[in-house]
Amino acid sequence: MRRKIVMGNWKMNSNSESAEALLKGLAEQWTGVHQAEVAVCPPYPYIALAKSVLENTNIGVGAQDVSQHEAGAYTGEIAADMLADIGCQYVLVGHSERRDYHKESSELVAKKFAAVSAKGMIPVLCVGETLEEREAGKTFDVIGSQLMKVVDHCGLAGVAKGMIAYEPVWAIGTGKTATPEMAQDVHSYIREVMGPEGDQIRIMYGGSVKPESAEGLFSQKDIDGALVGGASLSVEDFVAICRAAE
Ligand code: PGA
Repeated sequence: MRRKIVMGNWKMNSNSESAEALLKGLAEQWTGVHQAEVAVCPPYPYIALAKSVLENTNIGVGAQDVSQHEAGAYTGEIAADMLADIGCQYVLVGHSERRDYHKESSELVAKKFAAVSAKGMIPVLCVGETLEEREAGKTFDVIGSQLMKVVDHCGLAGVAKGMIAYEPVWAIGTGKTATPEMAQDVHSYIREVMGPEGDQIRIMYGGSVKPESAEGLFSQKDIDGALVGGASLSVEDFVAICRAAE
């Protein structure tokens, strides 16, 4: 049995005041022990705040990105060691916004995945196709190649130490969620590519997940949870999505 997981990706949103309000709201509403695993990924400056507000809760904390380098003269970068040091449990790598706006290649993403894993945190590999790629019938090729670059670098067992988030680029922040069946097809393909590790790796879906769409997605056999952007900035919406995963 794979435990369902819901992660909030705040992206570049919030400030001290709103971050604290959001974190306190979550701590109040998500008390006790739950079947679903829940975590938030605030922007770097609010990770320590998240750790302290969520200290006695069952809500984990992650980061949205990391450097591929260990340490040294890399101005503006954040090392995996530093994230582990301040108590991060998860790190997203290869989010489509990083691949697109920062031209991150799958090779770079693979190095970041390995860096996170080496420091004992759980890397979350984001993969996804653009609308153009989907319409050209290339969805599986694109997802397969993004995934295989990390498999080449870390091995199947290495990838299986982390998690995967399937996030179709055309569904991110657009209000267009993939239908549960569309997402299920890709999730099942990812398990196939993962071979002997396919059954155990957890695969979240991401892309405009809302309380109204969560249940349908979570009812699919290969969808193990959600990576939530916009809706994770509202306590009510995020908690409703977490409840749908129970
Ligand atoms: P969204 O973002 O829920 O706002 O579409 C998801 C993501 O990019 O992780």
